[in-house]
Amino acid sequence: MPTLAQQSGPKFIAARAMLLTALLLVCRASDSQTVTEHPYLEGHEINSDTCLKCHPDKEEGKIVHTALDVLCENCHQVASDKVARKTRITLQAKGGELCGKCHETEQQQVVHAPYAAGECLLCHEPHTSNFPGLLRAEQDTLCGSCHQANHPSVSVDEAAQRVTLLGRQSYSLELFKSAPKLGTFRPRPGVPVSTHPVTGRDPRKADGEFKCSTCHNPHTSRADQLLRMPTKGESASENLCLGCHTGARFLHQKTVAHSDCSTCHSVHAAQSSKTPEGVFHLVQGQPGLCLKCHDVAAEPIQKAHLNQPVASNRCTECHNPHGSERARLIK
Ligand code: HEC
Ligand code: HEC
Ligand code: HEC
Ligand code: HEC
Ligand code: HEC
Ligand code: HEC
Ligand code: HEC
Ligand code: HEC
Ligand code: HEC
Ligand code: HEC
Repeated sequence: MPTLAQQSGPKFIAARAMLLTALLLVCRASDSQTVTEHPYLEGHEINSDTCLKCHPDKEEGKIVHTALDVLCENCHQVASDKVARKTRITLQAKGGELCGKCHETEQQQVVHAPYAAGECLLCHEPHTSNFPGLLRAEQDTLCGSCHQANHPSVSVDEAAQRVTLLGRQSYSLELFKSAPKLGTFRPRPGVPVSTHPVTGRDPRKADGEFKCSTCHNPHTSRADQLLRMPTKGESASENLCLGCHTGARFLHQKTVAHSDCSTCHSVHAAQSSKTPEGVFHLVQGQPGLCLKCHDVAAEPIQKAHLNQPVASNRCTECHNPHGSERARLIK
């Protein structure tokens, strides 16, 4: 049976007129708020080419889901009743189960709540998108809708206990509230800034770009906080931070006690860029940062400092917090 696109002559014109009438009827029906019924489709009309005649937007966009290359029916079940001349279109399966027909479910310890719930459509478009990865928006906007405090694209419905994200797709209000909220993301990277660059151009590479998925795995991960790698370890293959912050001052350290970068730095902390904490994205200022673990009143430290009152100083005036070729991390 030829598809509609391949047909010509009066039969095709008649079919097209029929489709247009059906479309108009439905449009009128939806104007007057009555329940819309899908236009009746003959058996031979149930194919992607025909579907796309009336739903052309399903193949428009920079990124088209490869699943569409095959068949609309990969996801939509189309049942046409010849006698009643009625067509009912339903989804083959719900949520993650539908996507799971073709995409394997990731199995790693740390699982992101919306992924665990199979709510793929909170982040992905099923048909086409203008953003890489078939996403519904740029990552800072998409992830920000749940993780940025007071994001403009969120509307809360207290009565229904749901939130609507980015104008479409609703989510449980309770889970939404459990998503850790970060400060406003800076529109461009660079230092000094009060937060670590997480979005925009990467100044170190001509074609580099910061996205949330540069450091986080959006679905599941082996590392805490959905990080692509832990923030500790002494080489770029085990430590996320060292993938970008290279150099002898981090590697070949004599003391490895300070190799967990997140002990002292927070990528998302939002202190003022006028303070050292802000510039260096530190979780706390000095000397408090160091005094969390080092008791300067203790005998060996007192002795090492020749009983000088170092507790009131910036420890990094004399020590390199990361590593040193000299003993005792002396600069
Ligand atoms: C004659 C034009 C026409 C053809 C051909 C057509 N559709 Fe539709 N479709 C419509 C209209 C009109 C609506 C109602 C739109 C609305 O409610 O906003 C609709 C609605 C839908 C919906 C929303 C759910 C529903 O049932 O209302 C889905 C899904 C859908 N179509 C899928 C398909 C698929 C898959 C095909 C091919 C098998 C197809 N359509 C072929 C006109 C068409
Ligand atoms: C990978 C699975 C998948 C494929 C393939 C697919 N769809 Fe869909 N479609 C969906 C899902 C899921 C929804 C429900 C979206 C929602 O709830 O927001 C949907 C909704 C729709 C709707 C109604 C809502 C809207 O966005 O307009 C139409 C119309 C539609 N699809 C048409 C098509 C047509 C035509 C094709 C083939 C060209 C197709 N779909 C192929 C998964 C798919
Ligand atoms: C009928 C099989 C099928 C179904 C069902 C399906 N997909 Fe896909 N999807 C594919 C294929 C094939 C690719 C291309 C894979 C590749 O390039 O490695 C793909 C690619 C993708 C990509 C990557 C796109 C890109 O350009 O980076 C995303 C994201 C995706 N699918 C999400 C989904 C979601 C969400 C659902 C459920 C709504 C879904 N898929 C359902 C077959 C399917
Ligand atoms: C919290 C948002 C979010 C949810 C929920 C989500 N994804 Fe993704 N997904 C992403 C992001 C972000 C990417 C990476 C895009 C990039 O880096 O270009 C991605 C990438 C993908 C890809 C392509 C790369 C790969 O990993 O193979 C597929 C396929 C995919 N997702 C399928 C799914 C399916 C299936 C579900 C539901 C079970 C789902 N996603 C749920 C955000 C999400
Ligand atoms: C629909 C809402 C929603 C969206 C969109 C969303 N998240 Fe989440 N996210 C959550 C919730 C809820 C939690 C808390 C529950 C949990 O730990 O999974 C969470 C937790 C996290 C955590 C902390 C995990 C931990 O183990 O402490 C990170 C990191 C995170 N999300 C990153 C992202 C990134 C990156 C994106 C965009 C790709 C994103 N999120 C998009 C809802 C969302
Ligand atoms: C340069 C790497 C990097 C980038 C890019 C990045 N993050 Fe993170 N993120 C981290 C690290 C490391 C942590 C662990 C805690 C910390 O350092 O603040 C974290 C923690 C988180 C948490 C958990 C915070 C908490 O209080 O539990 C969320 C949510 C999160 N990131 C979301 C995002 C979103 C959304 C984006 C994109 C706008 C993003 N991240 C981009 C490295 C990054
Ligand atoms: C994807 C690359 C990338 C990753 C991963 C990354 N950073 Fe950065 N970081 C940068 C860039 C780019 C800057 C801006 C300054 C520059 O050009 O070096 C920066 C700035 C900084 C600064 C301020 C530097 C200064 O001289 O003022 C600190 C501190 C820092 N990062 C710590 C970390 C820590 C800790 C981690 C891991 C949790 C980390 N970074 C992960 C790319 C990255
Ligand atoms: C014990 C706390 C601590 C740990 C752990 C730590 N840092 Fe730092 N880092 C600091 C302090 C304090 C500064 C500010 C230096 C100053 O005041 O001169 C700094 C500055 C920096 C800077 C900017 C200055 C420079 O030397 O380029 C970068 C980049 C940086 N740290 C990355 C890292 C990375 C990557 C790790 C993990 C390998 C790490 N830090 C682990 C405390 C720490
Ligand atoms: C999370 C705990 C922790 C924090 C915070 C911390 N340290 Fe350490 N530091 C250690 C441990 C553990 C060792 C290795 C055991 C030891 O020698 O005491 C160490 C070792 C040292 C040494 C070398 C001792 C030696 O014998 O070689 C110096 C110097 C030092 N730290 C200075 C600092 C400074 C300066 C800061 C603040 C920028 C700081 N530490 C923050 C835990 C910490
Ligand atoms: C004026 C320079 C100076 C300042 C400021 C300073 N230190 Fe030291 N620190 C030293 C010297 C010198 C040594 C001994 C080096 C040696 O024994 O070779 C030392 C040794 C240490 C040791 C090793 C003690 C041991 O067991 O041998 C630790 C830990 C330490 N300092 C922590 C700190 C902390 C924490 C601060 C900030 C509160 C700080 N230092 C501030 C110069 C300084």
